[in-house]
Amino acid sequence: MTNKGTQIYKRLLTYTRSCRGRIIVSVIASLGVAGSDAAAAKLIQPFIDRLVVAGDVSLVKLVPIFVLGLATIKGVSRFIQEYYIKTAGQLVMQDIRNDLFAHSINLGMRYFSKISSGPLMSRILNDVNVIQASVAEVLVGILREGITLIALTGVAFYGDWKLTAMAFVVLPLAAWPASSIGKRIKRYTRSGQGAMGQLTKVLEQTFSGVKVIKAFGTEEREVDRFKDENRFYYRFLRKVIKYDAASSPVMEIMSSFGVAAVLWYGLHRVISGGMTQGELFSVIGAIMFMYTPAKRLSKMYNRIQQAIGAAERVFELLGQPRDIADEPGAEPLLVDHGKVSFDHVVFSYGEEPVLQDVSLEALPGEVVALVGPSGAGKSTIVALVNRFYDPQSGSILIDGQNIRQVTLSSLKASLAMVDQETFLFNDTIANNIRYGRPGASDEEVVEAARQAFADPFISLLPSGYETEIGDRGLRLSGGQRQRICIARAILRDAPILILDEATSALDTESEAMVQKALANLMENRTTFVIAHRLSTIMHADKIVVLDQGRVVEAGKHQELLDKGGLYKKLYDIQFRA
Ligand SMILES: Nc1ncnc2c1ncn2[C@@H]1O[C@H](COP(=O)(O)OP(=O)(O)O)[C@@H](O)[C@H]1O
Ligand SMILES: [Mg+2]
Repeated sequence: MTNKGTQIYKRLLTYTRSCRGRIIVSVIASLGVAGSDAAAAKLIQPFIDRLVVAGDVSLVKLVPIFVLGLATIKGVSRFIQEYYIKTAGQLVMQDIRNDLFAHSINLGMRYFSKISSGPLMSRILNDVNVIQASVAEVLVGILREGITLIALTGVAFYGDWKLTAMAFVVLPLAAWPASSIGKRIKRYTRSGQGAMGQLTKVLEQTFSGVKVIKAFGTEEREVDRFKDENRFYYRFLRKVIKYDAASSPVMEIMSSFGVAAVLWYGLHRVISGGMTQGELFSVIGAIMFMYTPAKRLSKMYNRIQQAIGAAERVFELLGQPRDIADEPGAEPLLVDHGKVSFDHVVFSYGEEPVLQDVSLEALPGEVVALVGPSGAGKSTIVALVNRFYDPQSGSILIDGQNIRQVTLSSLKASLAMVDQETFLFNDTIANNIRYGRPGASDEEVVEAARQAFADPFISLLPSGYETEIGDRGLRLSGGQRQRICIARAILRDAPILILDEATSALDTESEAMVQKALANLMENRTTFVIAHRLSTIMHADKIVVLDQGRVVEAGKHQELLDKGGLYKKLYDIQFRA
């Protein structure tokens, strides 16, 4: 195993700390399995020499007793060993899965914008399953087969060390081809897992975009695309299967050479009087008993390689630094009035600068509208307030406190956001509204819905607030979903409100209603509002106009119109129609 592989395996083993008891029970049971095999091999000798050769018939009645007794001891030990070690393996995987989930959910948005959910899910489900299967088998194998091998080796050497030594030189030659096969398996499993992630991605895309596919009648094309990916996946699996399947036969053929040599030499030793018949059969019995454990152990190598391949990906995810986290000594944010200021903020997602030297200020209780062409950086500004990302330079202050120096939980508690992507969980409407304040009473939920003008349509649903929202909330219209999201933000009751195209999915009539609801909501709160329709932001206290990541103008509606700059241009485009 490579150095890196050893490290990964060691790290995997650190997870076994919590289930040491189970492992110990399993080790003890392994002794039972090994002992019964070794005893069986050892007993061959007296039975052959005294019963078969010397004809002591009084031993006959002992044969069934020994056979049954040893089989029972071995069976019970095997059960105990396997049960405890496999449950230990599952507990370990449970821990790893929990760690993975907790770690990934805490990663910054930068990570999530790089990786789609398919490969991420594949790590938490598939890769962990691969590790689980291998680790369980490896633990079972190394313990039980390893101890059995040691015990049988003892019996064989005790029987005749010359024959055994010779067998030990000849037989392990079989292990060599297995190791090169193992390397290949590792390589293809890795690519196979990647291909599986790709497959998951296609599925996810297709089913979530099923409406678009139907609308454009592109089912055939999607089927072809899926077929291509599926074929790609199969190609990797085919290689894994090939090498996995070759591993046993190659071992068997190689070992038959060894068996032939051992038999030939052993018979010569008996004929020349170097050992008794009983000893020969006992040694050969012990060596034959070694075959299954040795074969299993040889497969361990492949298994370990598979586990390392999967564990590498798992630990890579666990090793992703938490870029957005509480700084040491972070204090809770104290929101006094809710003044938000950007001070020379520079930000980029990648190479290209997205915000360049942005300074702006939202005074307590003010409504600040962010306006500008699409891609200007409006959503990015509010993402920075949320600390989805940290700026490369400059700072963002809330009531004079740098948001990087306060605790994340207190920052989030002071913000409520409604955006274009009206995501709702697969849960009841009431629980969706309650998401930002789990302790809210039913009355408070209804009140929030009422203020968001969502109550009328919710009340008409057969189960009212207890209606389950289906996968991705397909049963609700865009406007209805958006009003639920607004109710969720109202109930959150945070001092700073962010509305990013929050009314874009509404028709003009319900927009008028929701606009009234939002007016209620905005009262006494510092609000950032981004809206495409300029009619909805005309009355803002301050309008900040952005273009290509820079603030190009700021002021009130009339001032900006009089100025005749970009705002006037955008205004003219919208109202000429
Ligand atoms: N997650 C992201 N990763 C990389 N680039 C992004 C990401 N989100 C936005 N951008 C880019 O940043 C720029 C500003 O985007 P955004 O703030 O969403 O604009 P707006 O909301 O004004 O339409 C655009 O060029 C966009 O392509
Ligand atoms: Mg946007």
